[in-house]
Amino acid sequence: KVPSVPMSSGRHLPLLGLGTWLANNEAELDAAVRAALDCGYRYIDTAFVYKNEHVIGAVVKEYIDAGKFKREDIFITTKLPMYGHAHAAEYIQKSLKNLQTDYVDLYLIHIPIPFQREEGNDAPKAVDGVFVPDLSVPYIETWKVLEKHYNEGKLKAIGVSNFNEEQLQDLYNKATVKPHNIQVETHILHPQKRLFALAKKLKMTFTAYSPMGSPGRLASPLIAGGDIDIAPLKEPLVLRLAQKYNKTTAQILIRQTIQRGMSAIPKSTNPTRVRENFDVLNFELTAADMAEFDKITVNERIFLFDFAKNHPWHPWKSDLRRRLG
Ligand code: A2P
Repeated sequence: KVPSVPMSSGRHLPLLGLGTWLANNEAELDAAVRAALDCGYRYIDTAFVYKNEHVIGAVVKEYIDAGKFKREDIFITTKLPMYGHAHAAEYIQKSLKNLQTDYVDLYLIHIPIPFQREEGNDAPKAVDGVFVPDLSVPYIETWKVLEKHYNEGKLKAIGVSNFNEEQLQDLYNKATVKPHNIQVETHILHPQKRLFALAKKLKMTFTAYSPMGSPGRLASPLIAGGDIDIAPLKEPLVLRLAQKYNKTTAQILIRQTIQRGMSAIPKSTNPTRVRENFDVLNFELTAADMAEFDKITVNERIFLFDFAKNHPWHPWKSDLRRRLG
């Protein structure tokens, strides 16, 4: 059974789940979700912008209808798109429909940088190829819509993704329902020590996306330009521990994440790797080996969101300027 941590909503967040960013081939994702559910995953992370909620929803519903597990045994996270901040109720409904469910276990504001929506389209509005910010919806206004759906039971927990410390603290101060979770890029080369400490202080659970450093990211247009080689899977320490524990480098990285008390959501659409990434519950890194990771001095994020470089609410402007000029 997957270990979990309590959320301030009263429910539990599993520490290991399946990530699905860039899982756009429907047949491939369908097979990956089946492989995941068959080997014991009960937590799937998606987002409206991944355009794959319907695939996940269909497989999950089939498994529930077949009596393989109950709805309450599975945990589904999805997220509000950056062009949906002014239309949050609409996007919550769309996600519920895509996922074929009455409620989402955890719903996140995907990113604190709202953009206007293109007329009649689920896409950001662009002028001369540049997305148009929507500063009419401060995130506390969007948050109130999430709170309402939380109070109605349609969202069992609510949180944010890609917020920086200041934004998280600000939202926390203004919120009636305090955020239950924050999800950000986290791995051994970007360990998020301060944000994780803040989340703990605010009694919030923490989810690490890209625990392996997203080796498939170059397939995404979001990553164009400014990318540097950040490769946790190739770190000498990880290679050494993989040998010592007779595990793969991916398994060492996932295990390290969950031993920190964070939830890890490695993405894979390859059934063999889906199973490999789940096989991390039968060994433990020693405290001394965990401490070795603290000696790594690199601290670089992969995801700079350069598509939003002129947005005033961009969460990591200094990293963006330092790396992209
Ligand atoms: P694939 O889907 O073909 O397995 P992250 O979760 O850090 O964002 O990383 C996801 C990327 O890592 C995807 O490109 C995925 O490719 C790849 N990946 C997933 N599992 C493993 C693994 N066990 N070993 C190496 N690469 C992996």
